[in-house]
Amino acid sequence: MPRPRLILDCDPGHDDAIAILMAAKHGELLAITAVSGNAPLRLTAHNALITTQILGLDTPVYAGAERPLVAPPRHAEFIHGKSGLGGPILPPLTRQLAGHDAVRFIIEAGRRYDDLWVVATGPLTNIALALRQAPDLAARLRGIAIMGGSTSFGNVTSHAEFNIWADPEAAAIVFASGATLLLCGLNLTHQFMISPDTVAQLRALGGVAATFTAELLDFYCAKYAEKFFGKVEGPLHDPCAVMLVTHPELFTCHDRPVAVELTGQLTRGMTVVDERGVKAMEPNNTSVAYGLDAPAALELLLETVQLYA
Ligand code: BDR
Ligand code: CA
Repeated sequence: MPRPRLILDCDPGHDDAIAILMAAKHGELLAITAVSGNAPLRLTAHNALITTQILGLDTPVYAGAERPLVAPPRHAEFIHGKSGLGGPILPPLTRQLAGHDAVRFIIEAGRRYDDLWVVATGPLTNIALALRQAPDLAARLRGIAIMGGSTSFGNVTSHAEFNIWADPEAAAIVFASGATLLLCGLNLTHQFMISPDTVAQLRALGGVAATFTAELLDFYCAKYAEKFFGKVEGPLHDPCAVMLVTHPELFTCHDRPVAVELTGQLTRGMTVVDERGVKAMEPNNTSVAYGLDAPAALELLLETVQLYA
């Protein structure tokens, strides 16, 4: 089966870096577009470049939006560290950005190809700007696979997940765009938990990609322990959105109406997923992932890291 053509729009970020590793081997990865999110844009763009450099990839990296559409810029250093990629000692950067016009790149690629997926693993600012400037993109794209939101609990607030909470106005534009949307929320990504045993398995594979991944996950799981769980483990969110496009057979999905709460005092940035079925008032606009074959996803991650050896 041909590999799906895709752009990965991301804010590396530990799990974004692992999403890059997966996307480059299982997709026809045209480019990586960086957005402000886990860290300021300058750092997420750097982190996308350094990840490709470490993995030996020549994928072009474009920088995009420096700040959310309306909300103030807010980052996630409590999980990813100040640099956005805490943990591994990174080499000096030798790669350069292909450009600072991520939004234009997304629009032009969407118009050039009939089968382009955008996988979004950061705040949806770049995608919303692209859809706003080029509304024809909604119908032109094969689809947008989003890591964000949840059908249940949040992580930044009780009901809001970071990527949607960081730029809710952008997310609202994307969910209202009419594009084909796939959603991997926290309800799904918390099924893909990484434990110290998994990190040991990864490390044992040997090689640069395995060591990089293991060092990233050591830091990430320790931060999750500190902030959320009390025990050392972490949900590997962003690679799920890549696999949803490249390996859909690993997922169980249901079509749902999904909208973004913009004004709720306690719920701003929440994805409101209507699960009433035939009684739903709005049309289904999103294929929402509910189930993951986590052992198969882990097997795929291990196999993919080995491909870099
Ligand atoms: C999402 O927020 C970021 O911290 C992660 O990279 C992931 O995309 C999880 O809420
Ligand atoms: Ca991310």
